[in-house]
Amino acid sequence: MNKDQFIKKIVCIGAGYVGGPTMAVIANKCPDYKVTVVDISRKRIEAWNSSQLPIYEPGLRDRVEKARGKNLFFSTDIDAEIAAADIIFVSVNTPIKTFGEGAGKAVDLQFIEQTAQRIKKNSSSPKIVIEKSTLPVRSADTLDTILHSGKNSVRFEILSNPEFMAEGTAIRDMEEPDRVLIGSHETPSGHAARDELVKIYSRWVPEQKIITTNLWSSELSKLVANAFLAQRISSINSISALCEATEADVTEVARAVGCDSRIGKKFLNAGIGFGGSCFRKDILNLVYLCEYYKLDDIAQFWQAVILINDNQMDRFVSRILKTMFRTLVDKKIAVFGFAFKPDTGDTRNAPAIYICKRLLEEKAHLSITDPHALPNAKKDLDGIDEGVKYIEDPYEAVKGAHALVLLTEWSEYCGLDFQKIYDNMKKPAFIFDGRNHLNHRKLFEIGFNVYPVGKPSLTHI
Ligand code: UDX
Ligand code: ADP
Repeated sequence: MNKDQFIKKIVCIGAGYVGGPTMAVIANKCPDYKVTVVDISRKRIEAWNSSQLPIYEPGLRDRVEKARGKNLFFSTDIDAEIAAADIIFVSVNTPIKTFGEGAGKAVDLQFIEQTAQRIKKNSSSPKIVIEKSTLPVRSADTLDTILHSGKNSVRFEILSNPEFMAEGTAIRDMEEPDRVLIGSHETPSGHAARDELVKIYSRWVPEQKIITTNLWSSELSKLVANAFLAQRISSINSISALCEATEADVTEVARAVGCDSRIGKKFLNAGIGFGGSCFRKDILNLVYLCEYYKLDDIAQFWQAVILINDNQMDRFVSRILKTMFRTLVDKKIAVFGFAFKPDTGDTRNAPAIYICKRLLEEKAHLSITDPHALPNAKKDLDGIDEGVKYIEDPYEAVKGAHALVLLTEWSEYCGLDFQKIYDNMKKPAFIFDGRNHLNHRKLFEIGFNVYPVGKPSLTHI
């Protein structure tokens, strides 16, 4: 298609885990829209324009290669792209504040504000501005105020269109979503903007799956969806502690409970707790909102989801310590998996970060292996990783180890030759399966002492 024949120009500000995959899918599904992803990081944009994309996500490379240079572009020329755009997605990072009021809880809105100022400065034609980043409820107000302040008389219409993609399945979640949510002002111009976005999604999403709401419901729904998902994980993890105390088996309990169609089977895998860039941040955000509106009991309810998650990681480390004769000094521990979940190299808030730090405090030597997350693991443990080796080959990583600690359920770990691993480990050989991922009975028969989460251990000692 000729460059000038595009029916609309979309710009996405922020070329990260959300912006990149989302725009790759939109570009593939809407070849008559020009989609440009911009970022302040030159390095990131260069990576998006190369064969080594900056993030690992199944199916992403294929989607990028199909559209890049045709209707999908990556650029650092933010001002020019904003000026030319009809529709702007805001997909910059919204971390938790580490300073001042709300530190540790509230969202740090500095990147959003910078972005809003930049949009305002570079706009001389009306634009639809879409919140894609997770933001506190009523942030659209802030965007509205900034964009319409001062002399610039350009009209902006704000929409909220939260992403519900999970990492590792981002492309599938975008291409076959459970629902698409679009919040708008309940005004004629708000509805017109909303319909523009509905038009884009309805290229591949059935209309009954496109939910439209007011702006505030949309913003809140994103936080609530993540809070409910995280709450399920904390619920089953709390029960895993009870299972360990009573010899019940958490997998059996989850199965029995999940067969009730009102409860459902998904998201009931006990483990070392949730990680990732969303759950913790969104719950903290929800807690902060509740406190702001003086709903302290409700804030405490949601805070408990995080407490259980923290507690789960602590319990896991305590179990390792207790089992390995209460000392890890100079013991070698092979850590299998560092990413916060499989099929991603992302380690943001990964339980592995906390667990490895705790093991290092006990003076253990760690050899960490992960198919995609070693570069991030190195950054996460930078400065405290004197006793750490990062080894790609799991067989090498586990040579001479006293224990194997599985923290991410990569499918390739199930296919390993555990007899070979056992033969190369110190005895007694321990496996702590933080994700209940391996065949415990088989490992026990090989000779391992096996410690799953929320199930009786299988031991020879
Ligand atoms: C999540 C939401 O699922 C997604 O809808 C939203 O858009 C972004 O946040 P993500 O963080 O990428 O996605 O991954 P998710 O699959 O939800 O897993 C989050 C964490 O929960 C992982 O650490 C995972 O290991 C853990 N988890 C998940 C469990 O411990 N048990 C489970 O049963 C499911
Ligand atoms: P997410 O998981 O929300 O996508 P990431 O950290 O992966 O978060 O990506 C956010 C991206 O937004 C980063 O690449 C960052 O460089 C970019 N970014 C942050 N602030 C701005 C800004 N003011 N203008 C353009 N890009 C920005």
